[in-house]
Amino acid sequence: MALKQFLVLAFLAVSSLTSRVRAIGVNWGTSASHPLPPSKVVELLKANNISKVKLFDADPLVLQSLSGSRIDVTVGIPNSMLRSLSSSKKVAESWVHDNLTRYFSNGGGGVRIEYIAVGDEPFLQSYGEQFKPFVTGAVSNIQTALIGAKLSNKVKVVVPCNSDAYQSVSGLPSKGHFRPDLNKTMIQLLTFLSKHHSPFFVNIYPFLILHQNKNTSLDFALFKPTAHSRNDSHKTYKNSFDTSYDTLVTALSGVGFPDMEIVVGQIGWPTDGAMNASSSIAETFMKGLVGHLHSKLGTPLRSRKPPTETYIFSLLDEDQRSITAGNFEKHWGVFTFDGQAKYNVDLGQGLRKLANVQNVEYLPSRWCVLNNNKDLSNVTANVLEACSLADCTALSPGGSCFNLSWPGNVSYAFNSFFQEHDQRADSCEFGGLGLITTVDPSIGNCRFAVELRTSLSTSLHGSLLVWWMLLITITTSVCFLGFT
Ligand SMILES: *[C@@H]1O[C@H](CO)[C@@H](O)[C@H](O)[C@H]1NC(C)=O
Ligand SMILES: *[C@@H]1O[C@H](CO)[C@@H](O)[C@H](O)[C@H]1NC(C)=O
Ligand SMILES: *[C@@H]1O[C@H](CO)[C@@H](O)[C@H](O)[C@H]1NC(C)=O
Ligand SMILES: *[C@@H]1O[C@H](CO)[C@@H](O)[C@H](O)[C@H]1NC(C)=O
Ligand SMILES: *[C@@H]1O[C@H](CO)[C@@H](O)[C@H](O)[C@H]1NC(C)=O
Ligand SMILES: *[C@@H]1O[C@H](CO)[C@@H](O)[C@H](O)[C@H]1NC(C)=O
Ligand SMILES: *[C@@H]1O[C@H](CO)[C@@H](O)[C@H](O)[C@H]1NC(C)=O
Ligand SMILES: *[C@@H]1O[C@H](CO)[C@@H](O)[C@H](O)[C@H]1NC(C)=O
Ligand SMILES: *[C@@H]1O[C@H](CO)[C@@H](O)[C@H](O)[C@H]1NC(C)=O
Repeated sequence: MALKQFLVLAFLAVSSLTSRVRAIGVNWGTSASHPLPPSKVVELLKANNISKVKLFDADPLVLQSLSGSRIDVTVGIPNSMLRSLSSSKKVAESWVHDNLTRYFSNGGGGVRIEYIAVGDEPFLQSYGEQFKPFVTGAVSNIQTALIGAKLSNKVKVVVPCNSDAYQSVSGLPSKGHFRPDLNKTMIQLLTFLSKHHSPFFVNIYPFLILHQNKNTSLDFALFKPTAHSRNDSHKTYKNSFDTSYDTLVTALSGVGFPDMEIVVGQIGWPTDGAMNASSSIAETFMKGLVGHLHSKLGTPLRSRKPPTETYIFSLLDEDQRSITAGNFEKHWGVFTFDGQAKYNVDLGQGLRKLANVQNVEYLPSRWCVLNNNKDLSNVTANVLEACSLADCTALSPGGSCFNLSWPGNVSYAFNSFFQEHDQRADSCEFGGLGLITTVDPSIGNCRFAVELRTSLSTSLHGSLLVWWMLLITITTSVCFLGFT
């Protein structure tokens, strides 16, 4: 083989390899009572060769921890800011100034911010008119602010949309269209995205499609080759993901944007809190998804053109996520809240197993359980109170602790409350029914967690903090004296 041909082939091999790995990223949410320190999360991303991350806000501690990491970042603007951003160019300017400009300036540490996600599923049907009227205004003011800050050639503005933005008659992709109430807004948004060469971000959840639609099977959601396929005008659909994706492709074509680039902003499978939410099913789904993306087959309507990027939802479990959509909401992580892999899937690390977070700092090995020797007639009220504030989702039907019968499930509820409250003695009271133990009550898959130690979570750390503040005060006074 001629050297030139060899070099071309080698180049193609290398570039296809990098594009393969570059295409998968993860969502990093921080709705946790005891979040892992950002520096640990970045170690986790690096250890697993994850090259892209999507955030839901612009937390300076998180962004600083990503500086110099060579990881591409999407920062987020919460829905609650859309109204003020759309009504004022000044608000948009200060958002860009405070949350973007400094990471690009000299000494800003070099955070590789690629996208600003304006809002998070702002068109969700259940939100009604709450955010919809402000999206295009917010997007255009942020874009103007980016141009003003000379960053518009580096950062693209996008709007992550849930798949409920589009629908189709009898689930056929060829009949896809945008929700009628969104038609006008969507055309404005797509015109903007197209003008600025920004992709359309869509969140697709085969797990939710399965739950909402009786006319689909678990195998179809899990990319199983044995799943019953569906025919749709000479195209054959073999999985739920392709079906939803192509419904979007048809909807985009229908309003005049057949070539709009698509990025999958969120996709994943929960592992607890509902039927069919388990680590082994999630592993099957994720391996099916990643295999499908790596095959580069694309979908029937976009053959050989798979989504340019796909962000797994989610990196970690978050115990403060709202459960209005279901008890599984706190269990989307590929990793547990403390950064341990629940199963294996190639997120960029290849054939190796996923690496866990190392040297995690926990609260002491203590749990709160029900004291069986007490009068238990009043226990129900205490359980309800604990569960209304803490996380009892593992006790739901299909959950990892559903098999704990009474009174084990009472202990589970008490412990969850106790851990969320930093193991404070007064959070294991329950009218005298609580008992602190050093014996781990976990059984089988049902894990009684011990929470993470965070900077403010123990009295030990509390006093350390006081020492630090004292030290800082002394240092600043010394510096101050030194300058005068
Ligand atoms: C990470 O991905 C890059 C690009 O594909 C690859 O060259 C490298 O070997 C990977 N690193 C590890 C530690 O797997
Ligand atoms: C910057 O982002 C943070 C976190 O999302 C937000 O709280 C803050 O209001 C933003 N700053 C401005 C000036 O909008
Ligand atoms: C259910 O699926 C079948 C084929 O799998 C299809 O013929 C039928 O139209 C679907 N019904 C609905 C209501 O989506
Ligand atoms: C949405 O807009 C497109 C393009 O203007 C139009 O063809 C279609 O009929 C509209 N659909 C609805 C439901 O208004
Ligand atoms: C789908 O179409 C193929 C041929 O294109 C056919 O072999 C198959 O039986 C059809 N499946 C269904 C469920 O109609
Ligand atoms: C979920 O799992 C249960 C048993 O594990 C099964 O009976 C049920 O059909 C599944 N639900 C769906 C929607 O597939
Ligand atoms: C039972 O709980 C209620 C409400 O917390 C409390 O007012 C009552 O005194 C309790 N009864 C006993 C016997 O502990
Ligand atoms: C719960 O118990 C039932 C019957 O004993 C068993 O089939 C099931 O696998 C158990 N579930 C879990 C999550 O342990
Ligand atoms: C605990 O289990 C009992 C049955 O053993 C059940 O009646 C009760 O509702 C469960 N409580 C919770 C909080 O899951």
